[in-house]
Amino acid sequence: MTSAVATPLREVHTVESLHPGIWRATFGSPESITPGSVRQSRPDSVGLERLGPADPPFDLSALKWRLTARSCNVSLPHSVEEGIFGFGLQLKSHLQSGKKRQLRVNADPVLDQGDSHAPVPFYVSTKGYAVFVDTARYTSFYVGTHAPLSRLPERVLQKGSKIKLSPHELYRSAAFGDRVVVDVPAAPGIAIYVFAGPSPLEALQRYILFSGGGCLPPLWALGNWYRAFADHGADEVLSLARDFRSQSLPFDVIGLEPGWQTQFYPNSFVWGNRFPDPLGFTEALKEEGYRLNLWENAFIHPEAPFACEIRPHCADELATDGLVPDFLDPAADRIFAEHHERELVEKGVAGFKLDECDNGDFLPFAWSFPEYTAFPSGADGEQMHSLYGVLYQRVLHHIFRSKNQRHFDLVRSSGALASPLPYALYSDLYDHADFLRGMVNAGTSGLLWCPEVRHASSSEDLVRRVQSVVFSALSMINAWYIPRPPWEQIDPELNQQGQSMEQRDGVTRMVRQVLEMRMRLLPYLYTAFARYAFDGIPPVRAMFLEAPEDLRSWSCDSQFMVGPSLLVAPLTAVQKGRDVFLPSGEWHDFETGLVQEGPAVICLEDVPLAKVPVFVRSGSIIPFGDVVECVHDDKPQRVELVAYGRKASSGELYEDDGTTYEFRDPAQRTWHHFTRDEAGHATTKTNGPHAGRLFTIAPGIRSLG
Ligand code: GAL
Repeated sequence: MTSAVATPLREVHTVESLHPGIWRATFGSPESITPGSVRQSRPDSVGLERLGPADPPFDLSALKWRLTARSCNVSLPHSVEEGIFGFGLQLKSHLQSGKKRQLRVNADPVLDQGDSHAPVPFYVSTKGYAVFVDTARYTSFYVGTHAPLSRLPERVLQKGSKIKLSPHELYRSAAFGDRVVVDVPAAPGIAIYVFAGPSPLEALQRYILFSGGGCLPPLWALGNWYRAFADHGADEVLSLARDFRSQSLPFDVIGLEPGWQTQFYPNSFVWGNRFPDPLGFTEALKEEGYRLNLWENAFIHPEAPFACEIRPHCADELATDGLVPDFLDPAADRIFAEHHERELVEKGVAGFKLDECDNGDFLPFAWSFPEYTAFPSGADGEQMHSLYGVLYQRVLHHIFRSKNQRHFDLVRSSGALASPLPYALYSDLYDHADFLRGMVNAGTSGLLWCPEVRHASSSEDLVRRVQSVVFSALSMINAWYIPRPPWEQIDPELNQQGQSMEQRDGVTRMVRQVLEMRMRLLPYLYTAFARYAFDGIPPVRAMFLEAPEDLRSWSCDSQFMVGPSLLVAPLTAVQKGRDVFLPSGEWHDFETGLVQEGPAVICLEDVPLAKVPVFVRSGSIIPFGDVVECVHDDKPQRVELVAYGRKASSGELYEDDGTTYEFRDPAQRTWHHFTRDEAGHATTKTNGPHAGRLFTIAPGIRSLG
């Protein structure tokens, strides 16, 4: 029996070494339903071996833990000198030092408290280590917030001396405490995993490889996406898709919103009469070069053909009056997946948008299942909320995996160990600065994020938002509540009334240019995703991972790295200019090649609307694709190599068959490595069987800067 009185139990835990640079410390008897216990992807032990051994960042056998009637908690070392980042898709803040984070799944995180569509009990330190707490509970992390009574004199001393600090240092030193306390409610024990660096990026790579590596989307899914108006039927969607081609607006994926079904909220998962010939519809889209993605949530209407069969495998509470399948029950998974496979995937559907698998009981109405829900598998509602996004992804992913068909989809909730699952997060929230922070933060927990574009408050707002989304993991316009594209009318009401705005042609031109930039980046992005899949390096990532020792990188919550060489610093419509932190080395303007010396914070003033500040690391060779309207299976994209700077430079390009999982076999991977020496001699080394399958490399290397 546990008692309300704290029981310090420091000796009775076990420490195991699992992989090079990864340890697990187990305290008491951890719960049986956790992200780790229900995981299906195995750690990528080959990738982990490649990273090599590393020393533990601290003495794991000395960790202090205690068990009370309300929680199990553990204290981990922390110092005021380090910056802590992570905890999943945090939209409200970047640096987490000095804060209490309560990790609770919530679709509407208004305050900066830790609530998130995708909270992850995981953090990375600038000191070069990372910690994952394997729990599905709404866990609190006190990140250097409190010092124990025994530290009183020292603490007063420290605080006194802080008066001499600069404002920035003072801000940094908000973390007074010498520990991170992790408080897991209701658990009789916990397992924590510690990942060594030596750098923060390597610690993160170990976590992602431990999760099973990053996902690799099919090439077409890295093109642009457009989600059509929810009330449109097949003819309207097809005519919109054809309009895009005639206006040379490059899109690869068309999404349908709830109205494709006979019933939604909850769902029948059956085509409604607006789509009388689903197969004909998907084929017509395919002829135009589009893949189809369907909206759904997991809640099942009694009219769904499998409702009776799945009912015994559902929760004891409903959500939006629908059955809630227990995705920890293999029978529920099978019934749900079989219907999707037979009725949708086999009719040409290329993927799904898994909506509302988070939680929203603080909105005007509670549409999800409550925490006191009981599931047949034994999970309660709290555990299920923490796991539901990942489990839902997994059920539908298996359909595609078993068909050896790659997909890349959308999901509104995710969690720990999710990086192998090919899904990007999105949100109904819409603050542009928060969306940029999502781009900075998501990768730090092995997640991908899409800062989708819907309507806009001005043309500038629309263009600036599109400029952000094209540099994200998934480039999407989500026009689910407007019949015409936002570049024809940004105002949702006027759009619904069919009124085009005056500046429509000019705005369309600008948006087209930005969407074309995405297509030019496809070869580079695909290569960055290959590094995610095989090495665990997030394709979009925070600046502190690039320059952890430079404190200026810690506050960069609106600029980020994309792939190895691009530093992207988008603007929002309220900004005319902005500061950009350049880490040490030389950086070139993406378009002009103009060079800037780092480390520095540069101030950009009066940035024209057509310009997105992008800087390229000197010495990089970037593979730029030609602008294409979409990815064609049988027509490789032509690639031009551009070297930035006059010094020796290098770059790489990855290819495979673009659509199957054959790349899991290293022999199926094709790498091109480019070098150019200072005298201008260029070499290309190619290994692997798929050269020329996705890209044809134009001869020569163009120089910029
Ligand atoms: C929301 C979702 C939106 C849209 C909408 C359709 O939950 O976040 O992107 O799909 O549902 O009803």
